[in-house]
Formats: sequence, structure tokens, C-alpha cells
Amino acid sequence: MTERASDAATACRVCRGAVTEFLDLGRQPLSDAFRDRADTGPEFFFRLAVGQCASCTMVQLMEEVPREAMFNDQYPYFSSGSAVMRKHFTETAQFFLETELTGPDPFAVEIGCNDGIMLQTISDAGVRHLGFEPSGSVARVARENGVSVRTDFFEESTAAEVRATHGPAAVVFAANTLCHIPYLDSIFRGLDVLLDDNGVFVFEDPYLGDIVQKTSFDQIYDEHFYLFSAHSVQNTAAEFGFELVDVARLGVHGGEVRYTLARAGKREPSAAVAAMLEEESERRLAEPETLREFAAAVGRIRDDLVSLLSDLRAQGKRVVAYGATAKSATVTNFCDIDTALVSHVCDSTPAKQERLSPGKHIPVLPSEAFSAPYPDYALLFAWNHADEIMAKEQEFRRGGGRWILYVPSVRVV
Ligand code: SAM
Ligand code: TMP
Ligand code: ZN
Repeated sequence: MTERASDAATACRVCRGAVTEFLDLGRQPLSDAFRDRADTGPEFFFRLAVGQCASCTMVQLMEEVPREAMFNDQYPYFSSGSAVMRKHFTETAQFFLETELTGPDPFAVEIGCNDGIMLQTISDAGVRHLGFEPSGSVARVARENGVSVRTDFFEESTAAEVRATHGPAAVVFAANTLCHIPYLDSIFRGLDVLLDDNGVFVFEDPYLGDIVQKTSFDQIYDEHFYLFSAHSVQNTAAEFGFELVDVARLGVHGGEVRYTLARAGKREPSAAVAAMLEEESERRLAEPETLREFAAAVGRIRDDLVSLLSDLRAQGKRVVAYGATAKSATVTNFCDIDTALVSHVCDSTPAKQERLSPGKHIPVLPSEAFSAPYPDYALLFAWNHADEIMAKEQEFRRGGGRWILYVPSVRVV
């Protein structure tokens, strides 16, 4: 890792190498900042652009949003809203109980435990645990579910305090959270203090390989600071004295990878690590040319989607959206989709309902509004939950309704 950035604004957050921008998604609001209808105050905007480090290959945002602006008492994303994800995390917890948490009085820590979707199973098994969760809104629910929670950001200082009071952790887990954290140096120093000598750090996040393959550009938003690959994670681990010892592809959230890290030299890397690194090299995933092609494909999706929605409006069709996802902030603000093209968004989350989507101010209504009456078309923003949602909403298609998808390309089904 030799190249160093001369300009601090383009220095890699992992290795200080030079970051080159490859996609600009424009002026964007905070993806989870739903507004009250009566709110007329100013809205926070930033420039959402992505680049890649020439040294460690890490794909990362060019601008960082202050963490307290995103993760606070108003944070509206409750993980347990999906039955598929509840099952996924119950199985994840069971896996840990059978593998890493078998010693005498083991201790498990989760970074970003949200409403307790994973730790609840660890807690029910009577195993010592602690969740770090800075967003009070969801931490409260986890506590109500019997999970021990510290309403705080995981970082070097808080990890050291937990080590002093609870002792070392056999497992530290983070799902859909590590990619939210620009300050990985502090995270790894915290892991170094907290993890048992033979402990593991396991995290799962959206996979760059899937994002590029599916052109799922909506995985890019304020909270998703990093888009990880096996290469960039291996380099990051090495930067901080750890080693990538296992990887596994996951089908959830549109394609993720579960990475397992151990202290350098402590565990033998599995064959899966070499295989994934090899596959990434073969498909030239980290090559600037691949990322430039991805950026061009994003532009085509925007053109196709706006043209389809405009045609439907011209034909007088009723079009609504489904799932007020954080991802949809990127889609609506990048493609300039507002109530002229989509009348409202239906979502099952009470904390989002009767409010306005960030930036484009599309009203969010409860799921029940979807059938009252059914629209002609529904733009599926929660495409990562397509199976679960389409199974739940079968009546819509039976009545002639059609879903609009835009990942990996714009189409009506
Ligand atoms: N693990 C859950 C899941 O997979 O559904 C929650 C994921 S949610 C998208 C990300 C969570 O990370 C939020 O609840 C946020 O408050 C939390 N978070 C952000 N920064 C954090 C930090 N430094 N330490 C612990 N949690 C953090
Ligand atoms: P996510 O893609 O970040 O997990 O967000 C999914 C959003 O979609 C969240 O706001 C909840 C909503 N949702 C529904 O409205 N109905 C559903 O059946 C599911 C699974 C999610
Ligand atoms: Zn770097």
C-alpha cells in the first residue's frame, strides 16, 4: 500500500491511499430522516458520491455525514419488520451458540443490535451478551425484549470500558452496521482490546460483487459508507492486525457476504477465502473500468425508470411505491421522483407512517392503504424483500396490478 493521497478530502478512510471518484449520485438528504408533514424547517443535504482507494481497493463515500445526525432517538429502521430477517438472525444466533459460544461462560457482543433481532436468541439461551446500539428508538425495544443494551456507539473507548467490566468477548458480531462506520481504525482498536485471544469478529454487509452485478446503486446512501469486497476486507483486516479467515455469500438484502476475522495468525483461513478472492480477480471487480461501467449502467436505469413512470402518468395510471426504504432516498432524489410520478409510499413501519420521505417529500402511508384501492402499478423500493412482500400482496396481482422493479434493470412484472 504505497500510494498516498495528497488531498485530505480524498484520502482513504482505511489506509490513507488516494481515492478516485467513479459515481456522483448528487445532492441527497439523510436517507432515514422522514419529516413531519407540518415541518417547514431546513433539511440536511450532502453530496453522495462514491470512490475507490487505489491502494487497498476499498469502495467508500467521498463525503462523511456526522454519525449523530443519522443514529439517534428518531432512527426509524426496526430490523424485526421482516419475517425473513427474523429467521435469518435466529439461525445466525443458533450458529454462534453451537460454534463460538461453547466455552465456560462465554460473552457475545453485537455492534448495532437494533431491536434485538439477533441477540434475543442469545439472551433466551442464558448466554452473557451486550448489544451496542446508539439509536435510542430501537435500543429501547431490544431492552423490552430482554436484551442487555448499551445505548452507545461502539468504538475504542466504549469497547475498552466493556472489556474492563465484562471481560473478553468470544464473538463480536455486526450485521448491516460495519459498512455504516467510517472510523474503522477506532473499531479495530476496540476489537483488539475486547476480543478474546482466539475470538472472532463476524460481520455481514451488502457485497460489492452483488451491487455491481445487479447495478443496485440504491445500496449507496449516507449510512452505507463502505461497499465491501473480500479484497478490501482482507486489506483492511491486515492494516489493523487481523486476518480474513472465512467468507460466505448470503442471499439476504439483495446479496451480502458474511466475513469472519481473527487475530492475525490465530486461525487457518478457509478455502472459501481464496476462492472468493480468486473469483473477484477473475471478474475484475476492483478494476476502475468495472466501476466506471457500473456508473454508466446506473445512468441507464435512471433514464429507463423515469421514462416508464412518465409514460404511466401520461396514460393516467395510478402508481404508488412500496417500502419506504433508506435505499429509496437514493432512487427518488437521484432520479427526481416525487408525487408527480408516485402518489405515496406504503410501509409497515409506524415510525415512518404519516410522514414524508426525505428530500422528495412523498407521503408514507400504512401498508393497509395499499389495497384501498389497489393502484395500477407499484414501484417496489423494498426489492430485497420481494418474495416476502409479493407473497403478502398476492391479491394486488390477481386484480391486474403490476410491480415495477429497477434492479438489475427496469421492468414490469
Ligand atoms: N443489525 C441490524 C440488522 O442487521 O438488521 C441493524 C442494522 S441497522 C441498518 C444499523 C444499526 O447500526 C443501527 O441500528 C444504528 O443505530 C447502529 N450503529 C451505527 N453506528 C454504530 C456504532 N458505531 N456502534 C453500534 N451501533 C451502531
Ligand atoms: P430495508 O430494505 O432497509 O430492510 O427496509 C425495508 C422497508 O420496507 C422497511 O421500511 C419496512 C418495509 N417493509 C414493509 O413495508 N413490508 C414488508 O413486508 C417488509 C418486509 C418491509
Ligand atoms: Zn485504502
